[in-house]
Amino acid sequence: MTDYICMIILIVSFGGNCLDTHCQGYLCCLDLCDITKDNPTAPLNEKFEQCCICASQKTWSGKEKELLIEYIGVSGKSLVVDPEKFNDSNVYKIEHIGGIMTEIPSDVCSWDSDTVLEVFLRQVYEFMKYWLHIVQIDFSFNKIRKVESLNCLRKLYQLDLSHNKITHLKNTTINQLAHLRHLDLSFNEIMSMDPACISQPTQNLFYADFENNKLPVVDVTNSFSVNPFCHINYTSNIIDKFVNEQGFTLDANKTYGPGFVSFNFNNFRTFPDFQSLLGLSNLAELGQLVSFGFDFRGIQLDCDCYLEPFLSMVQELKSFLWRDYFNVACANPPSLQGVKVPNLDPYDLVCTLERDADCPQECTCIDRPSTNTLFVNCTNLKTLPEFLPNSTLSRSISLKLSNNDIQILSNKPYLYKVTFLDLSNNLLEQVNDDAIAVLENATLHISNNVRLTQLPQRVQHRNLCITYMEGLHLTCGCQELWIENWLKVKKCDDEKLFKCTIPDLGIKEAREFSSSLLDCKQNLPIFLVPFISSVLATLTICGTVTFLLRYEILILFLRVRQKKVDNTADRFQYDVAITFDEEDEKLRGWILKVLLPNLEDNRYRVFLPSRDIPFGSRRDNVLMKTFAKTRSFLVVLSEKCLAQHEHQRDRSWSENEWKCAWTSFKYCKMKTLVIINYDHLAPSDVSIKQIAAFLRVGHTVEFGNYDAQIMDDIYNKLDPAPNQMDAKASYIV
Ligand SMILES: *[C@@H]1O[C@H](CO)[C@@H](O)[C@H](O)[C@H]1NC(C)=O
Ligand SMILES: *[C@@H]1O[C@H](CO)[C@@H](O)[C@H](O)[C@H]1NC(C)=O
Ligand SMILES: *[C@@H]1O[C@H](CO)[C@@H](O)[C@H](O)[C@H]1NC(C)=O
Ligand SMILES: *[C@@H]1O[C@H](CO)[C@@H](O)[C@H](O)[C@H]1NC(C)=O
Ligand SMILES: *[C@@H]1O[C@H](CO)[C@@H](O)[C@H](O)[C@H]1NC(C)=O
Ligand SMILES: *[C@@H]1O[C@H](CO)[C@@H](O)[C@H](O)[C@H]1NC(C)=O
Ligand SMILES: *[C@@H]1O[C@H](CO)[C@@H](O)[C@H](O)[C@H]1NC(C)=O
Repeated sequence: MTDYICMIILIVSFGGNCLDTHCQGYLCCLDLCDITKDNPTAPLNEKFEQCCICASQKTWSGKEKELLIEYIGVSGKSLVVDPEKFNDSNVYKIEHIGGIMTEIPSDVCSWDSDTVLEVFLRQVYEFMKYWLHIVQIDFSFNKIRKVESLNCLRKLYQLDLSHNKITHLKNTTINQLAHLRHLDLSFNEIMSMDPACISQPTQNLFYADFENNKLPVVDVTNSFSVNPFCHINYTSNIIDKFVNEQGFTLDANKTYGPGFVSFNFNNFRTFPDFQSLLGLSNLAELGQLVSFGFDFRGIQLDCDCYLEPFLSMVQELKSFLWRDYFNVACANPPSLQGVKVPNLDPYDLVCTLERDADCPQECTCIDRPSTNTLFVNCTNLKTLPEFLPNSTLSRSISLKLSNNDIQILSNKPYLYKVTFLDLSNNLLEQVNDDAIAVLENATLHISNNVRLTQLPQRVQHRNLCITYMEGLHLTCGCQELWIENWLKVKKCDDEKLFKCTIPDLGIKEAREFSSSLLDCKQNLPIFLVPFISSVLATLTICGTVTFLLRYEILILFLRVRQKKVDNTADRFQYDVAITFDEEDEKLRGWILKVLLPNLEDNRYRVFLPSRDIPFGSRRDNVLMKTFAKTRSFLVVLSEKCLAQHEHQRDRSWSENEWKCAWTSFKYCKMKTLVIINYDHLAPSDVSIKQIAAFLRVGHTVEFGNYDAQIMDDIYNKLDPAPNQMDAKASYIV
C-alpha cells in the first residue's frame, strides 16, 4: 500500500513534440519525444524531464567566484564579503551551509534597516555592485526565519533555502527574478503562502520545491506556472484543499504549462473540484488549457462523486495511458477500499449528501454523476420535500417517495429537474396542474393512491409509457371525455392504466370508457337548438355570461345554420384552404405527405397559401381575395402557431390567415371551418378566443395515430367536393 505509483493526469495532450516550436528560450523539449509511448515503465514525470531540456545555458557553470558570510552579531545577523577584489566580468555564488544565519545577509538587497548596520554602511554600499553578478545562493541548513525581497539579484539562477525555519512566503520576494530557475524551500516551516508566489508572468521557474513544509492549503496560482515549468513539489505537506483567493481564471487564449506538480503524501481525501474552483463551464476546458500533470501518489483518496468527472473525461485513454500512472488505490469508501482507480466503474463513484447540503432529514440523497442524477429516497413524509440539494455534478433528480403519506402533488422549486418521480402507495388526493406541467417528460408513478379520483386534464399530453396508474379509480364522466382520446392517442404497449368509475355504470377498465356510454356531448348541437334560442332570449338578462360564451354560442349557431345551406359550390374557386404554421417542419411534412395528397385524390380543389400564392405578390391581398372564394377552411392548430401569436413575434398567422378564415366563415353561411387539433391542445392553452371556443364545443378533429381515421374525421366535417358529386352524378347518368 505504501508503494503507490500514481499520477493523475488531467491532461492528455501531452505527447508529441511538446514545446519545441515555441520554447520561448526557456524550456525546450526534444523533437520526436513521445512521452506517452517511449519507455512506458518510467514514471511520466521523469520522462518529461528527460525529454524536455530545462536549458537556459549556464555559460558560467563552474566559473563562479565564491563570496563569504561574515556574522556581525550573536543573533545570526550577517553580511556577504568578497575575499578578493570585485571584477565585473565575474559571476558569484554565496554558499553557507549548516550555519547559524537567522536572516538573509543584511547587505543583500538592502532589506535591513536595523541601526546596528550604521557601522557597516560603507561595506553595505560597496556590496551593491555585486547584486547583478550573483547567480547562485545556497543557505541550506541554517536558521533563517523570514525572507524579504530578493528582487535586486536580477541574475540569480538558483536559490536554496531548504532546511531553514521560514514560516511564510511572500509574493514579492522573488517575483522579479526572471532568471531564477531553481527554488528550493523544502524542509522549512512554511504554513502560508501569498497567492501568485511562483506564477507571475515575470517568473520562469523550472523547479520549485516546497516539500516537507506545513502548508494546509494551496492556492491554484501556486500550483502551476503560466510559463512552462518542470516540477513543482508539494510532497509531504498537510494540504487538504485548493483555494482560489484571487478568483484566478484560465485565459482561453493562453496555454499553461506543461509541467508536473506533485502533491504526494498530503491530506487530500477528495479529488479537487477544479470545475467550480476555476469557474469552468465544463471540465474539458481545463484539459484544453492546461497541460500539466498532478501527481497524487500516497494520498488517501476518497473515491467519491468528485472523482467521477475526471475518470469519465479520460475514460477512453485510460487503458494505455494510465496503466502505470494512475495506479492509485481508493482508501474510502469501505466498499471501494483497495480498488485501483483505473479499475473503478464510474457508476460506483457517488457522494451521500447530508442535511447541510439541503438533504431533508427523512431522505437519503445520493449523487451519482455517472448517471447525471441525484437519487433521493424518503420515508415518513406527509408532504413533498420543500427543498432538495443542488448538485453541481448532476443535472437530474430521481425522487422515490413511495409508501409515504403524501396528499398533494404540487409544484416545488426542484421539480423541473425531476426525471423520475415515484409517488405510488401514498394518500394522494390532489394532483396539481402546474406540477403535471413541469413533470411533462418525467416518469411518473402514482399507482395505488386509493383516494385519487381526478387528474388535471393536462395529463392528456403525457405519454402512457411513462405514466403508471395501476390501482387508481378515476371518475370518468362527461367532464372527463378527454380521457378516451388520451388513451387512444398516447397508447403504449405496456401501459399501467387506472380503472374508470363511470356514473350510473360503475367501475370499468379505463380502455372500456367511451363517450358513447354517456349521455353528454354527442347530442349537443341538436339538443342545443332550443337551448340556444332560450340562451338568446336570456341574453339581455345575463349579458356577461353570454359575453363570455359568445364564441361558443356563435359556433354552435353557425354549425346549425350550416346544415340548412344548399351545396351551391360552383361559385367557389377552391373547395378547401389549408392554413397552418408553415414554420413547423413536422406539421408541414404531414400536410404535404398525407393531408394534401389525400384531399386532392378525393378531388378537392385545395388552396395551400405557401404553394399557391405566386411568388412576389402581396400575400395578404391574395389571401383575402382567395379566402373569399374558398368554400371550407381547414385550420391546423399547432403549439408553434399559437406561440407565435403569444410572443407577437410574427403575427402573420393569427393576424392574417386565421382572422381571414374566421371572418369569412362567420359572414358567409355557405362556408365551413374545421379545426384539426394537431398538438392536442386544451382550450386553456389557446389564447385566441374563437379557437378556444371551437375546442370547448368539441367541433375539432383530434390528431391521432392513424392517418386513415383522421382523414375520415375530416371528411365527415368537410363538405363533399363538388366535382365528386358531379362525378357521381355523371356515373349514375
Ligand atoms: C577580470 O577578470 C577577467 C577574466 O576573468 C580578467 O581578464 C581581467 O583581467 C580581470 N580584471 C581585473 C581588473 O582584475
Ligand atoms: C500578493 O499577495 C497579496 C496578499 O497576500 C495579494 O493581495 C496580491 O494581490 C498578491 N499579488 C499578486 C500579483 O497576485
Ligand atoms: C519531490 O519531493 C519528493 C519527496 O522528498 C522527492 O522524493 C522527489 O524527488 C521530489 N521531486 C523532485 C522533482 O524534486
Ligand atoms: C482572446 O483572443 C480574442 C481574439 O484575439 C480576443 O477577442 C479575446 O478578447 C481574447 N480573450 C481574452 C480572454 O483575452
Ligand atoms: C429507500 O429507503 C428505504 C428505507 O431507508 C430502504 O428500505 C429502501 O431500500 C430504499 N430504496 C432505495 C431504492 O434506495
Ligand atoms: C439551490 O438552487 C435554488 C435555485 O437556484 C436556490 O434558490 C437555493 O437556495 C439553492 N440551494 C442551495 C443549498 O444552494
Ligand atoms: C419535454 O420535452 C420536450 C421535447 O424534448 C421539450 O420541448 C419540452 O420543453 C419538455 N418539457 C419540459 C416541461 O421540460
